[in-house]
Amino acid sequence: MSEIAIRIEALSRDFGTIRAVDSLTLEVPRGTVFGFLGPNGAGKTTTIRMLLGLLAPTAGNATVLGFDVRTQAGAIRERSGALLEHNGLYERLNAEDNLDFYGRIYRMSGADRQARIRELLTHLSLWDRRHELVRDLSKGMRQKLAVARALIHQPPLIFLDEPTAGLDPVAAASLRDDLASLVQKEGVTVFLNTHNLPEAEKLCAQVGVIRDGKLLAVGHPDTLRARTEGNRVTISGSGFDDNILTLLHARPGVDRAQFVNGHIEIGLTGEVEVSSLVSLIVGAGGQIEEVRKDKASLEDVFLALVREEQEVE
Ligand SMILES: Nc1ncnc2c1ncn2[C@@H]1O[C@H](COP(=O)(O)OP(=O)(O)OP(=O)(O)O)[C@@H](O)[C@H]1O
Ligand SMILES: [Mg+2]
Repeated sequence: MSEIAIRIEALSRDFGTIRAVDSLTLEVPRGTVFGFLGPNGAGKTTTIRMLLGLLAPTAGNATVLGFDVRTQAGAIRERSGALLEHNGLYERLNAEDNLDFYGRIYRMSGADRQARIRELLTHLSLWDRRHELVRDLSKGMRQKLAVARALIHQPPLIFLDEPTAGLDPVAAASLRDDLASLVQKEGVTVFLNTHNLPEAEKLCAQVGVIRDGKLLAVGHPDTLRARTEGNRVTISGSGFDDNILTLLHARPGVDRAQFVNGHIEIGLTGEVEVSSLVSLIVGAGGQIEEVRKDKASLEDVFLALVREEQEVE
């Protein structure tokens, strides 16, 4: 079997005059979690819908698990799980019956369904709630149940379209933890749409950044971070004024200096001794309480990429 779970070649999709996905080329290796990152309207959902054969491409090709998205959509949908914008649960059935229903659709035996439902619900801390109607579960619990639904037939590949959207931070973190451990345990390939950067950092071995239908970059989050050269230094204290910012700006290797929530945030492009920046600030009358040096976050990378692209246009 091929090592590539998803192969996309120059795939495009138009809606009237809008090119929602623009000549996308991408490969997702088996057993990896691929994060598809992009702002609203970037083309993420459209891509997943094409990969599941729910939407015909305008141009280009794609295969999923070796099957062609144009002609073999049935085979793709049988072998993959999907959690799209609609969670696919029946509000008036209880948690267990929902999963049992989907297990039957995938023609699982009664014993297999029972074992799998117990395994998934236990993992997701929902086993005790299995007799409750979906409409009585919290949003976070429903979302977990929807993940269980996508995984019921042990597919080798799942598509998740913003699985934590609309959840509170605690529920989102809990779902992410569960996803991370499930994915590791079952070795499933995941295609994850998200605009949540910490989520991509936590879960994904590879991320692709898309905007206006175009893929801007792809790689491991660390590799992308390294591409956006530079570190960030955050300095907190008092007596900071615009004059200090101007002086910092004038320093070679300082890309930007700005106030963020009362702190000074400095973006560095080269190797700069932080102590020299500290003495500059002190010399100009600032009092320093704390200095923190961070690597570029995925958010920095993302913003830099989106900005680069805008400058090119
Ligand atoms: N059925 C449709 N008819 C017309 N235009 C559409 C349709 N579906 C998507 N689009 C357009 O295609 C573009 C990409 O939309 P898409 O839903 O793929 O973005 P997305 O990256 O999933 O965004 P979000 O983060 O908001 O979910 C948008 O401009 C959108 O308006
Ligand atoms: Mg979407």
